[in-house]
Amino acid sequence: MREEIKKEFVRHFGKTAEAVYAEAPGRTNLIGEHIDYQGGHVLPVAVERVIGAWAVRRSDRCLRLYSLTYQQLFQGKLEELTYQRQYPWVNYILGVVEQLMKREIVSFGFDLAVGGNVPVASGLSSSAALEVCIASLLLRMAGTELPPLEVVRLARRAENEFVGVNCGIMDQFSSYLCRKGHALLLNCATLKNRQVPLQLGQYCFLLVNTLKERSLLSSFYNQRVEQVNAALATIQKKKPEVRYLAELNVKELEGFRDCLNSVIFRRALHVVRENERVLKAVDFLQAGQVREFGELLYASHESLRDLYEISCDELDFIVDFSRRSSAVAGARLTGGGFGGCCLVLLKKEAVKDFQDSLKQNYLQRFQREPEFIEVETADGVYYRGNNRRT
Ligand code: GLA
Repeated sequence: MREEIKKEFVRHFGKTAEAVYAEAPGRTNLIGEHIDYQGGHVLPVAVERVIGAWAVRRSDRCLRLYSLTYQQLFQGKLEELTYQRQYPWVNYILGVVEQLMKREIVSFGFDLAVGGNVPVASGLSSSAALEVCIASLLLRMAGTELPPLEVVRLARRAENEFVGVNCGIMDQFSSYLCRKGHALLLNCATLKNRQVPLQLGQYCFLLVNTLKERSLLSSFYNQRVEQVNAALATIQKKKPEVRYLAELNVKELEGFRDCLNSVIFRRALHVVRENERVLKAVDFLQAGQVREFGELLYASHESLRDLYEISCDELDFIVDFSRRSSAVAGARLTGGGFGGCCLVLLKKEAVKDFQDSLKQNYLQRFQREPEFIEVETADGVYYRGNNRRT
């Protein structure tokens, strides 16, 4: 990746000895979906797919940004950081630049080439990987460092404030602080976290990318965030000490059923139950009870499908297909939903047969083949040698 991006960097901006490189991984969330923005627990892993960028400082305040993925060149100025409708990928970069300008860390222009192999719009968080990659790169170019949580927070803020997606903190946190061979148990209310060794025995994770177009994802996403915020606001009128929905148990939430409309109640119920599932899942994982862990993945999917309503035919098809295979322990949609990837936990020895037969069935049903990615866990930026200052 590094060399491929460098070649394009040189092609567009010429050779320069001072250019620096950073990269950040995508993530897949094992369980704990759509609850990070309501103080829930999540369990992501970083994956061996990265967004990488080369850049060099300029002596003026101009920005020249090239994307290998979109084959687009964007030119702008630090003074004019405005939302770019024609260049969606640029907004993640400008958002990070804005955050670092606010902190008086960036006041220089730069030339940059960015690329990577995290598939876009697939629920593997290429956007957070891009934000975290750019934040790390600019910090290095500025010759400074920030504490890990500061980097994570500013990357998230870039997405909330500049891109306009009201995402939680899970993705940026994962890209920065996950560890290879582990899942990260993160309490999104307190940011307390711990690394849980990923002991799967004869099982492994496979991602099945639906390759479904998801053009309205950010508006659906923000709508879900608003709905659970509305549930919380109603509950807080009676119980102001509740800070997040995930603090409640099902019985407590039931107590507010009459004050919430049925859609809002179902959304809140998903949050409360999903949070409980994550904690159970971690216990199963630590005890090596992979089958029980897998059942929770199925339960999570059903909740996302029926209560949170963010699934789609393609994802449901893959989960139903998985249910019929005895080699599969569990499956569910992962990430924002409405398309993207399905995560499947299955026996290593069965991966090939499973892929072959799912491919045929999926093709028949949707007239296109899905894409398969075997999950290999990775270190987040903080633990990757090539990004740390020496
Ligand atoms: C997106 C957001 C995350 C999280 C997931 C759903 O990836 O960026 O903050 O809400 O969706 O779990």
